[in-house]
Amino acid sequence: MAARQDTHFGEQTVPLADKQGLVDGVFHSVARRYDLMNDLMSGGLHRAWKGALVTAVNPPRSDREFALLDLAGGTGDVAFRVVEACGAGTRVTVCDINAEMLSVGRERASEHGHDDTVTFEQGNAEELPYPDRSFDCVTIAFGIRNVPRIERALAQAHRVLKIGGRFLCLEFSSVDVPGLDKLYELYSFQVIPRIGQAVAGDREAYKYLVDSIARFPKPKIFAKMIECAGFRRVSFKIMTGGVVALHSGWRL
Ligand SMILES: C[S@@+](CC[C@H](N)C(=O)[O-])C[C@H]1O[C@@H](n2cnc3c(N)ncnc32)[C@H](O)[C@@H]1O
Repeated sequence: MAARQDTHFGEQTVPLADKQGLVDGVFHSVARRYDLMNDLMSGGLHRAWKGALVTAVNPPRSDREFALLDLAGGTGDVAFRVVEACGAGTRVTVCDINAEMLSVGRERASEHGHDDTVTFEQGNAEELPYPDRSFDCVTIAFGIRNVPRIERALAQAHRVLKIGGRFLCLEFSSVDVPGLDKLYELYSFQVIPRIGQAVAGDREAYKYLVDSIARFPKPKIFAKMIECAGFRRVSFKIMTGGVVALHSGWRL
């Protein structure tokens, strides 16, 4: 009999096989308040971080065809920023496991007239429902740390990228600026769960999000994981004193 594999869900140790269901519960609970919470918790900084991601995606301004897959794309925030910055040939597929997040995203797409350029599809990052080499770029913003088997998601991102395509991952990282680290810890563990309770009515969900950030591998280790999945010219850029890192790798 295979040994049971465990992982963390917030402060709890849980069977690896149970993690996805618990994560789904978190995003189901916060979906309607998710975008407002992002602004409140980051003081609007998530806009600048996502702006840096879109600059790195560098979608064509011309009519040239460009297919982007935004993994764990939730309510479509990254997708909308990309289609607002590109020419007529760009199409974005938002793939997320959570039906509630996708449903908020579809409503937002209709409100902003993005129905023709952004498609929302339910899927698991560990088992993508797309053929090999079908996208020019794959992005994932604040999503990878929620996926139970990160190696599988990285391997799938590599599989669905065309040769010459780029993988970009924006994720919370670790603050190593003396003074700022303590302040960040205090803010994360004391303030964010309280905002989560007051605005989204769910303290535990936001506690999970903060814990998952603290447990995520440091940027150099995560860069190694990206390399192990087959990506080349792997690099990362630290932003806001280490609060966030933008990772990049190419399928060559
Ligand atoms: C913090 S949200 C990020 C949403 C969006 N990328 C953004 O930056 O606004 C994390 C997302 O990861 C999704 N997710 C978690 N596990 C997933 C999986 N295995 N496959 C695809 N999406 C997943 C959640 O449903 C949620 O929408």
